[in-house]
Amino acid sequence: MKKDKYSVALLGCGPRGRDHARAFADNPARFELVGICDKDAERLQSVSSTYEGAEPYTDAERMLSELKPDVFCFATLPRIRLELVELGVRHGVKAIAYEKPMATSLGEARRIHDLCEKAGIKTIVSHQHKYGNHWLRVKEIIDSGDIGEIHTIHATAKGWLLQYGTHLVDYMMFLNGGHRGTWVVGHVHGKEKLVDSHPSPDYALGQIEFENGVRGILECGSLAPDQPGGNSFWMNVGATVYGSEGYAQVIVGSGWQASTRSSSGLIEGSGGFDVEHDQAPYIRDLADWLDDPAKVHPCNGDVTYHGFEMVMGVCLSSLERRKITLPIESCEPIMERLKSVL
Ligand SMILES: NC(=O)c1ccc[n+]([C@@H]2O[C@H](COP(=O)([O-])OP(=O)(O)OC[C@H]3O[C@@H](n4cnc5c(N)ncnc54)[C@H](O)[C@@H]3O)[C@@H](O)[C@H]2O)c1
Repeated sequence: MKKDKYSVALLGCGPRGRDHARAFADNPARFELVGICDKDAERLQSVSSTYEGAEPYTDAERMLSELKPDVFCFATLPRIRLELVELGVRHGVKAIAYEKPMATSLGEARRIHDLCEKAGIKTIVSHQHKYGNHWLRVKEIIDSGDIGEIHTIHATAKGWLLQYGTHLVDYMMFLNGGHRGTWVVGHVHGKEKLVDSHPSPDYALGQIEFENGVRGILECGSLAPDQPGGNSFWMNVGATVYGSEGYAQVIVGSGWQASTRSSSGLIEGSGGFDVEHDQAPYIRDLADWLDDPAKVHPCNGDVTYHGFEMVMGVCLSSLERRKITLPIESCEPIMERLKSVL
């Protein structure tokens, strides 16, 4: 049922929880932050004291049972996902907003996806960079047809697969008109990051065939190339879209570039990762989706699960030396298997 304001209970007072709290507060006409939870008392105190009216809690179950919020938002490290989604489902929330990656295994991701679908709960995952002006400008150039028919998207990040890969496959779909992947092949290398909080091979190279024939090339981790602009490690990320008459490129740390049919040479513009800019509209779109089921959020659980399958498919392909057709039927512990062979 449409509401003027949706009540929100937030778990996690780390850097990303703070971003979320600010974004809900930046949309006061649509959301009311009623509870904030963290088991770390100091963090809880510093965040909850900023948001008047939000009750502080150290126990998530208690927060949800007492406040019965419309939206449960959690911003935690990836090791805790399914457990918190199950908590939200048990307490009958309307929506769950949480951090990427959606899980650390395909089995967990599928369980989350199916559980929320069955319960009729809307979910969104924070692949919010695409709200950035440079991503929007490149999307506008592609959609205008000024680089002709697009055929290849090359997306790279120095950050490893479960840190950045889930962002990049999401943005590939976004730039490619929402088309889904049909198969992936992949190569992976290096085991140091398999024991990280975002378990991943140190480097992953994947090729994705999208249903409209566009090829996606994904490179994440230690051997990924630099993007232009001399950006810092986490900003050394980007996506270049090649068309029959030019190209357009997002460089996460420093803006965009393009050479198009009408540009007669290189054109470029500013932009950059800006969480305050990107997070508020990402959150606002959740209220629109709750109001109207037809206004499906661009970071919805279906798209996120499909992206997660692509990322895991890259690893599975490398393990089994074969093309992986999407959707992936099996639910194997792919990262565990990588540990034994890398
Ligand atoms: N979308 C983006 O742009 C972006 C950017 C950076 C990081 N991230 C993602 O954000 C996540 C990490 O966020 P962070 O850096 O804020 O994490 P963090 O670990 O600093 O903070 C998480 C907080 O949650 C609390 N917490 C965890 N489990 C709890 C529980 N069961 N009950 C109560 N409190 C609990 C912890 O005490 C901690 O204070 C990662 O998944 C990372 O990939 C996303």
